[in-house]
Amino acid sequence: MERIVVQGGRRLAGSVRVSGSKNATLALMAGALLADGESRLRNVPRLRDVDAMAQILDALGARVAWSPDDPHTLAIDPRGVHNPEAPYDLVRKMRASFMVLGPLVARFGVARVSEPGGCAIGVRPVDQHLKGLAALGAKVRLEHGIVEASAARLTGGRFSFDLVTVNGTQNVMMAACLAAGETVLENCAREPEVVELAQFLSRMGAEISGAGSDRIVVRGVERLRPVALDVCGDRIEAGTLLAAGAITGGELELTGVDPSHLEATVEKLRAAGCEIDLAYDRLRLRGAELRGVDAVTAPFPGFPTDMQAQLMAVVTKAVGSSVITETVFENRFMHVPELIRLGADIRLAGRAAHVRGVARLSGAPVMATDLRASASLLIAALAAEGETVVNRVYHIDRGYERIEAKLASLGAAIRREV
Ligand code: EPZ
Repeated sequence: MERIVVQGGRRLAGSVRVSGSKNATLALMAGALLADGESRLRNVPRLRDVDAMAQILDALGARVAWSPDDPHTLAIDPRGVHNPEAPYDLVRKMRASFMVLGPLVARFGVARVSEPGGCAIGVRPVDQHLKGLAALGAKVRLEHGIVEASAARLTGGRFSFDLVTVNGTQNVMMAACLAAGETVLENCAREPEVVELAQFLSRMGAEISGAGSDRIVVRGVERLRPVALDVCGDRIEAGTLLAAGAITGGELELTGVDPSHLEATVEKLRAAGCEIDLAYDRLRLRGAELRGVDAVTAPFPGFPTDMQAQLMAVVTKAVGSSVITETVFENRFMHVPELIRLGADIRLAGRAAHVRGVARLSGAPVMATDLRASASLLIAALAAEGETVVNRVYHIDRGYERIEAKLASLGAAIRREV
């Protein structure tokens, strides 16, 4: 079982390029199913979740291949899709694979995707995805754990999401691109990954307006042609690296990411005492003595739930107290017991974590439980005295490309052990 070993106490310094966005990539890979030819995605991160989505597309019959010339370019050709069924053993590994449902039913008239089921951070139902597709005329059935959606041709409609859902917005928006007529979606997610997908689809010939706002209008077209796209930088990896710089009192520059994608994170770290300068594709952080901050997670442009665990790690060593409230998922505090093992002073009360800053953290063996919890343990380990061993690093590899190499290039004493 692979693990990562960290000797804490080093200030991070230097510059690192952020990898392409995991969550944008997963949606774009599903979107590539809509084109009648081979699309190419560049700046794709090499991650377990990307491999999982590639396996799903391959199982459907699409051709998915990494470019022989560039390890971060992925070609996807859906013309071989013959079997629009995504099996349980693949879907359960990565719930984002549910996003193939919309493109498949729009393109092929029928799709069967296993109900993804819950995961470590919550129940995570897909009712909004199904209600949205039904609003476009899809006949939706759930039997034996398989969702089947079918329609001779989807028809444009009006649908308002009962709650803000990122992949739900993306799934229904993709389906609407090939529906007959106009679709109006309200209460949509505004995340940059929704905007990135809309740009990709528009380049393919889709007629989409309003992506990035809570109201998206799609005029259906007959067909979509394949295109190439450079995937945007990963805003959560960027926020995670900034958090690592903050807790070590370091000085670092991040390139390859749009700072406007992580304004809420920047605002929180500034409130905690960090100096952060922004340019059009880079950020510079200077850590300082940290003070406690409060944060409440919310859909974009609010403070992202995917940065909640990482911010909590930072404030464990701040002067003063912090209250971190998780409003998006019902079980996203599994990093707390592990942070406490490193000496943090945290008390949970429902959806809120009350953190009292401590003068020192001390290294210990800890257990990764989910992707962002793992990142928060790495961040705390960088500032803990002595050695920390983070076990079950496969969680980290789902969403961070060579994270230990990036941190080592910034001066961290960190290594992976098989
Ligand atoms: C996306 O998941 C991200 N994943 C998540 O990132 C992120 O945490 C989440 O958005 C919120 O920002 C990808 O994009 C691949 P939601 P998604 O639907 O779309 C409930 C990471 O760490 N809900 O916006 O699945 C749901 O249970 C991952 O990179 C319904 O009730 O999240 C949750 O409480 C983790 N019914 C809330 O909405 C539905 O039909 C928000 O979930 C859909 C969602």
